[in-house]
Amino acid sequence: MLPFTPDASFIDRCRTEVDAELERRLGSGDQASKTLQQAMLYSVLGGGKRIRPSLCMGAALVVGQTAQKARVPACAIELIHAYSLVHDDLPAMDNDELRRGRPTTHIAFDEATAILAGDALQSLAFEWLSLAPELTDQTRLLMIRELAKASGHQGMVGGQAIDLDAVGQTLTLTQLETMHRLKTGALIEASVRIGALTDASIDDATLEHLTTYARALGLAFQVQDDLLDIEGDTQVMGKPKGSDVARAKPTYPALLGAEGARMHLAQLLDAALESLTPFGTRAEALRAMAGFVVARNH
Ligand code: IPE
Ligand code: IPE
Ligand code: MG
Ligand code: MG
Ligand code: MG
Repeated sequence: MLPFTPDASFIDRCRTEVDAELERRLGSGDQASKTLQQAMLYSVLGGGKRIRPSLCMGAALVVGQTAQKARVPACAIELIHAYSLVHDDLPAMDNDELRRGRPTTHIAFDEATAILAGDALQSLAFEWLSLAPELTDQTRLLMIRELAKASGHQGMVGGQAIDLDAVGQTLTLTQLETMHRLKTGALIEASVRIGALTDASIDDATLEHLTTYARALGLAFQVQDDLLDIEGDTQVMGKPKGSDVARAKPTYPALLGAEGARMHLAQLLDAALESLTPFGTRAEALRAMAGFVVARNH
């Protein structure tokens, strides 16, 4: 058994704050196209665990800053995540019709609108980051670089490309880890690092410990996602069970078996928690987040 049960209180508080901020920001401003705006709202609001924003805000607490200082950067990260899901579900990619318990964006609207909504959310993330309050220009620049690198060809998009190339193939454990590190891990790592950067004078050692935590957690997140694909409940997850199997995706359970994947998950949790040791009680939120990520059922 894993040593954690999901602690929902920190993530619940973050979700409430982030949802309110997202709603306020997305609902305002002139829009060129009503349909595009509706597709963007649909893709971002109305669901989502907000794990990445919560990690970002939790990391700010570790470095002695307020969670509020990380709120806008956290929302920007969620925009990137939402865009990645819209594109991930497209017929040319995973071809899924259910997301967050509702029809995917290309089903609720159409394919072209879903592509454009994803594109627009991506740009908007960087616009928000460039204007994030309570931060210096230098900090905003560092955050923009983190997010750009983590979401592009050396990060999430690169991982998605490997994922598509690898369909029907048997990857080695190292290849699988590289794919997961990029497609999912990179954005999770960036979430933690961006939260930590709210402290403009953060030292290298602190950033390194937090990065080690985020690396282990990023992989753990995707191992659990892979396990849920075979063991989860479509109703609870709000996305189709068996999607990976149907498309012969390389996954941890496919390579190691479900039990092997669960053991690997436990090791990753230990590694993540270990790297938080130097931070004592300031890392409580990130400890709770690690427990939530590995024990989640959706
Ligand atoms: C799902 O991410 C996509 C992956 C990267 C595996 P989440 O499980 O965080 O999805 P939401 O945001 O809660 O819907
Ligand atoms: C998606 O991985 C990772 C992204 C970059 C969106 P999956 O394809 O496993 O995510 P789900 O299972 O559809 O949420
Ligand atoms: Mg996918
Ligand atoms: Mg998918
Ligand atoms: Mg999945």
